[in-house]
Amino acid sequence: MKYGSVLDLIGHTPLVELPHLTPVDNVRIWAKLEGQNPTGSVKDRVALRMIEEGEASGGLTTDKIILEPTSGNTGISLAMVAKLRGYRFNAVMPDNASSERVSLLEAFGASITYSPGDKGSNGAVAMATEMSSDPKYFMPFQYGNQANVDAHYYGTAQEILEDLPDVKAFVAGLGTGGTLMGNSKRLKEHNPECKIFAAEPQLGELVYGLRTLDDGYIPPIFDPDKIDGKVRVKARDGILWTRELLQREGIFAGISAGAIIWVAQRVAERLSSEGGGDIVCLLPDGGWKYLSTEAWTQEIDVAEEQVEETLWW
Ligand SMILES: Cc1ncc(COP(=O)(O)O)c(C=O)c1O
Repeated sequence: MKYGSVLDLIGHTPLVELPHLTPVDNVRIWAKLEGQNPTGSVKDRVALRMIEEGEASGGLTTDKIILEPTSGNTGISLAMVAKLRGYRFNAVMPDNASSERVSLLEAFGASITYSPGDKGSNGAVAMATEMSSDPKYFMPFQYGNQANVDAHYYGTAQEILEDLPDVKAFVAGLGTGGTLMGNSKRLKEHNPECKIFAAEPQLGELVYGLRTLDDGYIPPIFDPDKIDGKVRVKARDGILWTRELLQREGIFAGISAGAIIWVAQRVAERLSSEGGGDIVCLLPDGGWKYLSTEAWTQEIDVAEEQVEETLWW
């Protein structure tokens, strides 16, 4: 196949069945592999749409520097799109982000401003918001930008419906909320009975790319009424299920994918008792950027009691 630009490769990601990770007979779990996007994550969709909207609205012009708080993936995607469209890009990122993310951003030519790691993504948001008062910057701000939601409404969800029009449940991680909001809106328009579930870390647990609303910041684009339930995941479960995904299905995905698969196991049991059907899990990225975290090699006490909290529909 021939393409005019790498930007044309964004989206249209494959949907792969996970037969070895499906705990019940009348349910099928499918993984939408967003790691197949050009920079290896779902955020390529969002970066392209935010930059196109910025250009269309007149807010983004070539004299501006694009500025964005990001735990990594959005930054890498913005860096790629910015380079191809001729913009400079400055990422604001917690100083404990994995080294692969920093190296990738630098490879794409981005500058990085570090926020305190112990303040997590909220610290990056606060720092970038303060910097953005300088008119030299254009801040797309994915937490409050409708283009983030629209990238999923017009892209991801539309693709899911083309492949699986009967989808009964959708599971995604909560970061900015863009994935959950855009897919919820489109999938529920198609079928109001389709259920939407969030994987959210327990307060204080580090699951790369995900955040909890319990720390007090609700992204402006996020509306809790658009989801039907959420499961709070511990860091160890995210890691264990990321390993299961590799061991049982051969899929090398990032840590938030493990958290999402763990939630899908719970959703599968519930859906099974209500007649079964297809569940789509959105796996945000591949495992490459997490190798330095030793997620696949560190010892974890698998016998440790799992205390997770489930809030159902
Ligand atoms: C690895 C990873 N997983 C999940 C998410 C959550 O996606 P969203 O921002 O659409 O809620 C992100 C986004 O920040 C991410 O980088």
